[in-house]
Amino acid sequence: MNSLLLDALAQKNGSRPPVWLMRQAGRYMPSYQTIRKKLPLLEMFHDPDVMTEVTLLPIRELQTDAAILFADILSVLDGLSIAWDFVEGQGPVIPHPVTEKTTLTIQSGVYGHTQKAITALKRELKVPLLGFAGAPFTVASYLIEGGSSKDLRKTKTWAAQNSTTFHALLEKITEATIAYLKVQIESGVDAIQLFDSWAHQLSLQDFRTFCLPYLKKILKTCPVPSLVFCRGSCFFAKDLATLPLSGISLDWSLPMEAVRKEIPSTLTLQGNLDPCILFAGQDAIRRACDPLLDSMKGDKGFIFNLGHGILPQTPYENVKFLVDYVQSRKT
Ligand code: CP3
Repeated sequence: MNSLLLDALAQKNGSRPPVWLMRQAGRYMPSYQTIRKKLPLLEMFHDPDVMTEVTLLPIRELQTDAAILFADILSVLDGLSIAWDFVEGQGPVIPHPVTEKTTLTIQSGVYGHTQKAITALKRELKVPLLGFAGAPFTVASYLIEGGSSKDLRKTKTWAAQNSTTFHALLEKITEATIAYLKVQIESGVDAIQLFDSWAHQLSLQDFRTFCLPYLKKILKTCPVPSLVFCRGSCFFAKDLATLPLSGISLDWSLPMEAVRKEIPSTLTLQGNLDPCILFAGQDAIRRACDPLLDSMKGDKGFIFNLGHGILPQTPYENVKFLVDYVQSRKT
């Protein structure tokens, strides 16, 4: 078993940093495209064999040091009986967006496919398996907007007009997320990551009101090592450091060493290469990785990753080059 990731999550890694990439299984891979052409995306997220196979693609092809379950942040919606789908060229769609009038009920026994996929993956994998979920604020934004939105106008209007009902929605999503993560943890994931991808839309005060308490509630129930990613995590890092977590996954807005100075050494830092560097070719990748790797040299709690997910159009060979470079570079 390659334990670099778990060692780094415990701030005990004395060898090279582990590397995995957010959205490492996805459209930039020719092998993923082949599977994707045959099946609707929603089906891929509900079929344990496909979930298993797609999770393994980057492990087999890139030899990353961790696997992340192939699912979506909207997968939790099955446990709230909310329909979700994907529309080509548009991304995730909630056909019946949630309003103040919607009653949400928690549904149990809906994650059999997740259990099966994790069980199969744990038999196969020689690297740790990460489970994950969306953070309540980010999931709420999809439910209210009906899909992705540039400015979260409806979400923020609701929060500002009626914070009581908005908090009630966040509570409900939190409850469903705890149940979903419990299934993942009981099935055998080694660690989890929460994605608050839209947190950067909030002021610091609103982040403290609408994100932090719910992240905390979820993390308190997690018996395995945990990471939190936000777009905005460099800005929110000191607040995130107050949570009961193992580490923070940083976006690319600040040098990691600058954030490291502000964060206790008992917390792991993950990140934070700008995913667009992967379009710029091998020399640019080396030039961007070297200062990051040099600055974190000897840090026992450092995990190499991107500052956000790989973009779908990324040249495959550059991703392969990046992983090889980080893993083989002499430190
Ligand atoms: O990292 C991994 O490889 C694991 C799988 C994973 C997916 N989605 C698969 C996926 C993870 C961790 C996610 C998380 C996710 N999903 C987030 C949080 C992370 C982030 O990027 O901020 C968000 C916001 C979503 C919602 C979502 N799902 C969007 C906005 C999209 C469409 C945009 C896009 O990048 O294609 C999806 C679809 C989706 N989820 C794909 C994959 C591989 C693309 C599928 C396809 O079109 O083939």
